[in-house]
Amino acid sequence: MSKIAIMSSGGDCAGMNPAIKKFVDYSISLNLEPYLIYEGLEGLIDDKIQKATYSDVSGIVHRGGTIIQTSRSKRFFEKEYRQIAYNNLKQKGIDKIVVLGGDGSFRAFNVFCAEFGDIKFCGVPSTIDNDIFGTDYCLGVDTALNIISNATDSLRDTASSSKRAFVVEIMGRDCGYLALITSLISGAEVCIIPEKPIDLEAKKQKLLSEMQNGRKYIIAIVSEGAKQTTQIVNWLKNDIGIETRVTILGHIQRGGTPSVFDRLMAFEFTKYAINHLLNVQEQASVVVYKESKFDFVSVEYVNSQKYKIKQDLLDLVE
Ligand code: F6P
Repeated sequence: MSKIAIMSSGGDCAGMNPAIKKFVDYSISLNLEPYLIYEGLEGLIDDKIQKATYSDVSGIVHRGGTIIQTSRSKRFFEKEYRQIAYNNLKQKGIDKIVVLGGDGSFRAFNVFCAEFGDIKFCGVPSTIDNDIFGTDYCLGVDTALNIISNATDSLRDTASSSKRAFVVEIMGRDCGYLALITSLISGAEVCIIPEKPIDLEAKKQKLLSEMQNGRKYIIAIVSEGAKQTTQIVNWLKNDIGIETRVTILGHIQRGGTPSVFDRLMAFEFTKYAINHLLNVQEQASVVVYKESKFDFVSVEYVNSQKYKIKQDLLDLVE
């Protein structure tokens, strides 16, 4: 019986558990023997690989995070540990792996598969940052945006109750996607992202004139990648002259019940990944969602360019 494994790697995100559930159910339906690799690349090295049954994945579809846990591994960069990881897989007869992770994890697996020759993997883009080149969507993004929009709606309630500004720092590593969408859907007055620098002097004049005409409060969304949170807080206090509070949403953005969209995407991504591993010879590939269709690209392609936010979306910000 052919053996296939799944693992999470790098930062967790909502949608990983529905993907793991689908992986086990679908593998069994195809007469494959499914395995779960616990604790990401670290667990692969430490042989935390277990055969899965239906009961291992029952009742997880609505849970955020990943029940098999994840890790960022330094050891996997060393050949000695990759050899141990390979031996662990070979010893169990596993030669196909679905990797839920980001481009860094796909790069690491690309090296691994090329090195040993008889292991195949298919990556499923999974990161709230939505920063993987070649795919319009990464698992976890919709849930993160829902969590963030609930938080910013709450902040608007309190901000609008007095004359104050709120600066909200949004995750996303170097990518401003989450912050941009949050600004748009929450109607923020200020949006600071690396992809679209703003003219603070012009913004100041606009806000001051609006305040003279009755504006009471301001919401400013700042992406972590812009590294301008403190600057914007000081600008609001000193240049605009408004009492200011700051909220860093942090890892709250990465948890939470997977949205309906993320559950469906998890099911689709996983099914496509398994079918690809079974039917195509390619050693390393990534399943992507581009222009409303699923497709496959190479790891080299994913790493060939930096992800760019679509211009149409950037144009929506004032
Ligand atoms: O890549 C996902 C992400 O949550 C980023 O948005 C954030 O910058 C980073 O991971 C945080 O990493 P860690 O969980 O290791 O602190």
